Amino acid sequence: MIKFSDDIIYVGVNDRKIDLFEGMYSVPNGVAYNSYVIVDEKIAVMDSVDKCFGEEWLGKVESALNGRNPDYLVVLHMEPDHSANIARFMEKYPNAKIVGNSKTFVMVEEFFGKDFADRRVTVNDGDKLVLGKHALKFIFAPMVHWPEVMTAYEESEKVLFSADAFGKFGANDAEEEWDAEARRYYIGIVGKYGMQVQALLKKLSVYDIRVICPLHGPVLASDLSHYLDLYNKWSSYQPETEGVMIAYTSVYGHTKSAAETLAGMLKDKGITVALYDLAREDKALCVSEAFRYSKLVLATTTYNADIFPAMREFIDCLVERNYQNRTVAFIENGSWSPIAANKMKAKFEKSKNLNFAQNSVKIRSALNGESLNNLSLLAEELGNS
Ligand code: FEO
Repeated sequence: MIKFSDDIIYVGVNDRKIDLFEGMYSVPNGVAYNSYVIVDEKIAVMDSVDKCFGEEWLGKVESALNGRNPDYLVVLHMEPDHSANIARFMEKYPNAKIVGNSKTFVMVEEFFGKDFADRRVTVNDGDKLVLGKHALKFIFAPMVHWPEVMTAYEESEKVLFSADAFGKFGANDAEEEWDAEARRYYIGIVGKYGMQVQALLKKLSVYDIRVICPLHGPVLASDLSHYLDLYNKWSSYQPETEGVMIAYTSVYGHTKSAAETLAGMLKDKGITVALYDLAREDKALCVSEAFRYSKLVLATTTYNADIFPAMREFIDCLVERNYQNRTVAFIENGSWSPIAANKMKAKFEKSKNLNFAQNSVKIRSALNGESLNNLSLLAEELGNS
């Protein structure tokens, strides 16, 4: 239990036991499920935590209540990492009401098999819940990250309860910089919904926000423009860093050698380069790095008359997250019938605002004079574009 203002108490938990977040994202430093209690004439508990931590969370809530009973459980997001303990909470506090919107309550019934019909407070976008000197104004944020998501702005302390927005991977006691794990979290989980995040940022722009309380990661209480700027870039699909990401797969090392050679040529020109082996690096990290840089080189082999699987999956992850506003170049390798470059390009067929490099490099098994020359032409093009 951490008190970060006189009346707002942190009652979240750190999950260091989780293997994969959402069943797919590696989280070497765990993840935090944040929950907060606002103490006033009425008491509101803001969201719950994952089911594995129900007991710990209820204990923290009880301490924060200091002998009083809660009036509301405010449900900003129904994904089970935050909502799993709703039924337990409602059993423990029979006079409490659930605050949600019409979409929230459909999911409450789906997950818990009961509708809490007589214990609901249904809010609309822009509604206010007065607790005393504190008041929560609800600002809906559909598809950031699920359709029922809403945020809540507490007016007296200028605190935004932002749901999944501005969250990151990593337990709150992990020592790591915010940007990389917030980028990996955002691009992986919400990256597809840039338009909806832009809509939320626009709505939030009229509020004087001093503190952001997300459902994952640390409470953000200073330098908020840094986080807001990054969210604006990410959600508008603008590159964050001028430079080239080279993403490759390599069966016997020859494609890797081409990727490394290109990296060296680009570095010699003073260009920032990030080199990733897609078969060995964390997938979500690779995807987030592609969104970070302004240019992307994809180097792979033809495999089963198609694209090498790790590269195919990588491109799918980019396309489904609306990858755009970047320059993309291709390097293909094949000992016979190399077709990966055309196959890769075809996967971006429906993507918007991509500039494909004029120079594409074909390697027959191993680099030779001709392919080396073509690599240097590609380096030249990427340096000039
Ligand atoms: Fe952290 Fe969308 O749940």
